[in-house]
Amino acid sequence: MDKIIIRGGNRLSGTVPVSGAKNAALTLLPCALLTDEPVTLRNLPRLADIDGFQHLLNQFGVSTSIAGARPEDFGRVMTLQATRLTSTVAPYDLVRKMRASILVLGPLLARAGEATVSLPGGCAIGNRPIDLHLKALEAFGAQIELAAGYVRASAPDGGLPGGDYSFPIVSVGATENALMAAVLARGTSTLHNAAREPEIVDLCNLLVAMGAQIEGIGTSDLTIHGVNRLHGATYMVMPDRIEAGSYACAAAITGGDITLAGARAEDMAATIQALRDAGVLVEPVRGGLRVASDGALRPVTLSTAPYPGLATDMQAQLMAMLCLANGSSVLTETIFENRYMHVPELNRMGAHIETKGRTAIVHGVRKLNGAEVMATDLRASMSLVIAGLAAEGESQVHRLYHLDRGYERLEEKFALLGADVERVGGD
Ligand code: EPZ
Repeated sequence: MDKIIIRGGNRLSGTVPVSGAKNAALTLLPCALLTDEPVTLRNLPRLADIDGFQHLLNQFGVSTSIAGARPEDFGRVMTLQATRLTSTVAPYDLVRKMRASILVLGPLLARAGEATVSLPGGCAIGNRPIDLHLKALEAFGAQIELAAGYVRASAPDGGLPGGDYSFPIVSVGATENALMAAVLARGTSTLHNAAREPEIVDLCNLLVAMGAQIEGIGTSDLTIHGVNRLHGATYMVMPDRIEAGSYACAAAITGGDITLAGARAEDMAATIQALRDAGVLVEPVRGGLRVASDGALRPVTLSTAPYPGLATDMQAQLMAMLCLANGSSVLTETIFENRYMHVPELNRMGAHIETKGRTAIVHGVRKLNGAEVMATDLRASMSLVIAGLAAEGESQVHRLYHLDRGYERLEEKFALLGADVERVGGD
């Protein structure tokens, strides 16, 4: 397994390109199932999860082709075509490796009237149930059966009638599955307390480009008028607001000055506010965002929340940055029940963090020390890299496959910014 060796202390500087958003791409890819015409996605990030999703779609008979990617390019163009589905089963051995596979449930049901998808199971950050996905689809007229670790969904003859569903809690994935099921329903559907993340807006924009009729895009109340068929489209994946925020934290903790090329400030207002509260300069510049710090960081109180609140996917990275703040910060993780696995590893690097339930108190320390650390989940891994960039001495982050799921060629990007990082294989 690969690991990354970081020699800390360099102030990051320069410009880094922001890749297409992983969490947008993972809901745009299954839209290809909704039509027999080609769907072309531009600015797709080169990530393990995208490759995994492509392989899953191939299982259903979806043809996929990659165009115009030179080795040095970031991002790729992929054309997908589901001319005819040869299967509607998402098997356990694929779903267990990538829980976002559950996002084929709604589109398969909409296109083929049936879907059999392995239950994704939990992951490091929580047990990640899918009950809200199933309740929304049932509200739209689907019949749901659970057996042998699989969920089997079927639509009445002639397709889903559509219906109304109010989410008891905000769920990104359940909103996405419900949207992709409703666009081909026979009638009109409504969703209330739907997720409003920018990735949901990206999904709605692609569906509309394919001929779907959706009202309330960007709000928590969506109305979807089902249509008989959807056509192909070409669509640019939005920039990754979490990747951008992660590099911003790396610039801040090293006292650097970087430009995030392609970052969209309007997607990341809560993260920008958190950085500014911590004393970091964040200003829109032509085509991106400038992030600079003199290294003096102020403690802050932060709580994650559904969009437009602070993204839970930014919690670990901000925590790493705040390890060197002049004082104690208080972070509250309201979305997932076990998203502090980076804490013991950060403390091994000399941080002073106490956790109690969903709350973490980050007592600022004068310095961090390089150490060998273990990645546990995607965003926790990035928090260890961020800490290593500022730590004295050398750090080694093991189990890089976690990072490769969500950060495109991160060692090359950090090298672009002047970090002393090296990827080595086979430990
Ligand atoms: C998406 O996960 C993202 N993944 C996550 O990013 C992100 O952390 C999360 O949204 C919240 O923003 C992708 O988009 C591929 P949820 P998702 O459904 O859809 C509970 C990353 O690091 N819940 O909004 O699975 C759930 O347990 C990943 O890129 C139910 O109870 O998140 C959680 O507590 C990690 N029942 C809360 O809702 C359900 O049926 C929010 O989960 C569904 C969710």
